[in-house]
Amino acid sequence: MSEQSKPFYITTAIDYANGSPHLGHAYEKVLSDVIARHQRLLGRQVHFLTGLDEHGQKVQQSAREQGVSPQQFCDSVATQFQDLCRLLDISNDDFIRTTEARHQNVVRALLQKLFDKGEIHKASYSGFYSTRQEQFLLEKDRNPDGSWPEIYGNVTQITETNYFFRLAPYQQWLIDHIKTHPGFIFPRYRQKQVLEFLNEPLNDLCISRPRERLEWGIPLPFDETYVTYVWFDALVNYYSATVSHPGLWPADFHVIGKDILVPPHAVYWPIMLKALGIPAPKSLLVHGWWSVNGSKMSKTTGNYVDPVAFSAQYGVDALRYFLVREMSVGQDSDFSHQQFLARYNAELANNLGNLVNRALNMTNRFAGATIPAPASEPAPGTPEDALAANWNQTRDDVLRLYDALQYHTGLERLFAFITATNAYIEQRAPWKLGKSADPADQALLQTVIATMTEALRLAAVLLTPVTPGTCAKIATVLGVPWGVLHKPWLEQLHWGTALTGAKVAPSAILFPRPQPQK
Ligand code: MSP
Repeated sequence: MSEQSKPFYITTAIDYANGSPHLGHAYEKVLSDVIARHQRLLGRQVHFLTGLDEHGQKVQQSAREQGVSPQQFCDSVATQFQDLCRLLDISNDDFIRTTEARHQNVVRALLQKLFDKGEIHKASYSGFYSTRQEQFLLEKDRNPDGSWPEIYGNVTQITETNYFFRLAPYQQWLIDHIKTHPGFIFPRYRQKQVLEFLNEPLNDLCISRPRERLEWGIPLPFDETYVTYVWFDALVNYYSATVSHPGLWPADFHVIGKDILVPPHAVYWPIMLKALGIPAPKSLLVHGWWSVNGSKMSKTTGNYVDPVAFSAQYGVDALRYFLVREMSVGQDSDFSHQQFLARYNAELANNLGNLVNRALNMTNRFAGATIPAPASEPAPGTPEDALAANWNQTRDDVLRLYDALQYHTGLERLFAFITATNAYIEQRAPWKLGKSADPADQALLQTVIATMTEALRLAAVLLTPVTPGTCAKIATVLGVPWGVLHKPWLEQLHWGTALTGAKVAPSAILFPRPQPQK
């Protein structure tokens, strides 16, 4: 299958099923969705996968605490995550759950293959074990004072016989792969952390847990007294979901947070695939972490943003817009309520919302609700000409920024154009032209209405991957039920007269009036 015809395959991390969806989960899905929508708009066939990581100790425990079976527990959490996807307008094509047979069968088949190839061996191991992280610890994991870092919770010493997968034989291959595929880890500066990890010899990875200690997992195909280590199980989701969709693999992007880059995604996963003779994914897109109001998000301290409640209060697209506008992909960001409201008011309500109101209002008052053709072509040196030139530059810049995944600066640039459009309207003051009986003013008024509505249409088209619902609404109130937009996306981004003759709605409230700052 050629590079061009292969669908663009993008995935999110699969979230742990041991809690409710939070802002970090919401962000990752929104970011991946913006990329997926952007690629679709560019004409590529896209396959977008998200899902849920349902096995492991924590799920088993949470289910026990609630007095339900682990499967029942997972089913109810899965519903919450699937509802979140719908609510946030996430355009995923598939949602994989690691308890599904289609996934378990693939995990078992891959394990068997590795076992048959002699890549897996059994050994007895004594050492420290963190139940919370479900991993064995090494001396180097200790704090300088000898204690164990808090993230490991209760650490116990155990001796256990388990199955191990040898990573070391692939270490040099992985180092070379990373060096010769500069796009493998994005942003590029994250490479350093991976290569540093690979400076030390890689230990064998323990891929089993005895069933008497952990029941809730996928039984090893070659020894059913053990279940599969959660990471070995979870990572395979990206591949198992493609079994019924030939031609998808390798993935173009695995979108993940920085906490799960090293070692699972940058070390275990490519080595597992290499050992199996399966190509590595093309790129790991690593995003940063959100803090909330300046500190770590935590339900217990109340420092928490619930994406569901937040969308209900301010609208899904306000949340999508803020997440993408505020965070530079790869860097950390803070979700401050105050900053959210500042952007909501200044950018969404008073800038974009205001342009929509003015466009509808002026067309209704002075053009019988029908968008007129401009009275003349924009002459050089006129404000109309300047705005059209501004648009051409904006479009080129924003497309380039979107391509580079710089959505936050792309949006900044696009909103500068919306600001310029509002300034243009003030300069031309159509409300004054409307009161004049001079035919030249009346002709200019037509041009102004055509110009402002065209600028709004173009901005909405370019904003589509980020706030699809709002953009569809803008098209509808401009009297062009996305129909005009059936043309290829890039072709819709040319300044012109696509709206001439369109019948606009009397009014629209996209972003209810500015919210009080808290
Ligand atoms: N189940 C594993 C992933 C397995 S992928 C084969 C996991 N789950 S998680 O629920 O803890 O996290 C899911 C994703 O959400 C991760 O990419 C993680 O980085 C991201 N986030 C969790 N909290 C976050 C923030 N506070 N901010 C941004 N993203 C964060 O890890």
